[in-house]
Amino acid sequence: MGRKAIITGVGHYAPPKVLTNQDLMQMVDTNDEWIFSRTGIRERRILEGDRGSSYMAHQAAEMALKNSHTDPKDIDLIIVATVTPDTLFPSTACRVQDMLGADKAWGVDLNGACSGFLYALSTGAQFIESGMHQKVLVIGADKMSAIVDYTDRTTCILFGDAAGAVLLEPQESDDPHTGVIDAILRSDGEGARHLYMMGGGSLHPATHETVDNKMHYIYQDGQTVFKFAVKGMADVSAEILEKHQLTGKQIKYFIPHQANLRIIDAAARRMKLNDDQVVVNIERYGNTTAATIPLALSEVYYDNKLEKGDYLVMAAFGAGFTWGSLLLRWAI
Ligand code: UT7
Repeated sequence: MGRKAIITGVGHYAPPKVLTNQDLMQMVDTNDEWIFSRTGIRERRILEGDRGSSYMAHQAAEMALKNSHTDPKDIDLIIVATVTPDTLFPSTACRVQDMLGADKAWGVDLNGACSGFLYALSTGAQFIESGMHQKVLVIGADKMSAIVDYTDRTTCILFGDAAGAVLLEPQESDDPHTGVIDAILRSDGEGARHLYMMGGGSLHPATHETVDNKMHYIYQDGQTVFKFAVKGMADVSAEILEKHQLTGKQIKYFIPHQANLRIIDAAARRMKLNDDQVVVNIERYGNTTAATIPLALSEVYYDNKLEKGDYLVMAAFGAGFTWGSLLLRWAI
């Protein structure tokens, strides 16, 4: 018998305020036709008020814990994948730990940008499989509106705010294809110059100059990132199937990072999937960075579309560059 990490609870949170393509047309020189045809996005959510990513992470986590009938006091570890922590320190995970009253948990943030949730899910699974922990909460949460320049039409149309969470627990099983099966995770720091936020770290601490130069916003060379993303995400998605001798037909759902519908389509084609196997909600949320995959998973789950034994493949590409795929078998 092997000890496997399975998902036993799922949750998500998207703030109620909607920012549509029409709204953005009042703010920058753009239009619905351009945004939708190039990205697949119609609207995104914005977190209002004096709240950070921890607010959304907490909401998503509470939903996942309720779903799995788990007392927060039993959680061992909280991992929050985010590029928009409430503060550089303390971590957002510590804030969420306090908000939940998860008294015995330790918490840590993980910055894998758009691949953050896959990195975090894979990391959390190791703590379960090793026998060190019984209950690990893995959250992807990003308040992208905090770092988007709403005068830059090349980025402001892309991003939105949301969070998603899963609870991992152990299950003893003879079948290696139980719960989190495998992940292929990659990084290439050469990509740093194409997608970044320069200001606010130790290299360029906040000064009047960094603010004047708009260094506290996302910058992206869209075309270059697009090319790397199409290849990177499709490669690892196909690779994880081959590695486990699975075909696209055996996959119930492909849950990709939602950055651009054209990137998703390219990966789905490489895996030879039909449209109904590909989970897409980019139209309603845009790119919520570390939140896209758990948010999409949670929506599928609460639509009652998942059955025990279903194979799922997740894949992402983001700043770093970071990318990866993860193979999972639904176990509840
Ligand atoms: O999640 C993290 C990883 N990020 C990604 O995966 C994003 C990857 N990149 C992309 O998804 C795409 O590159 C974008 C959606 C960002 C841009 O699409 P594109 O097809 O690569 O457009 P482009 O940057 O080549 O721009 C084409 C034209 C340009 O005009 P000219 O030079 O052809 O006259 C832009 O100035 O579209 C113009 N443009 C816009 N027009 C209307 C750029 N942004 C806009 C806009 N509205 N918002």
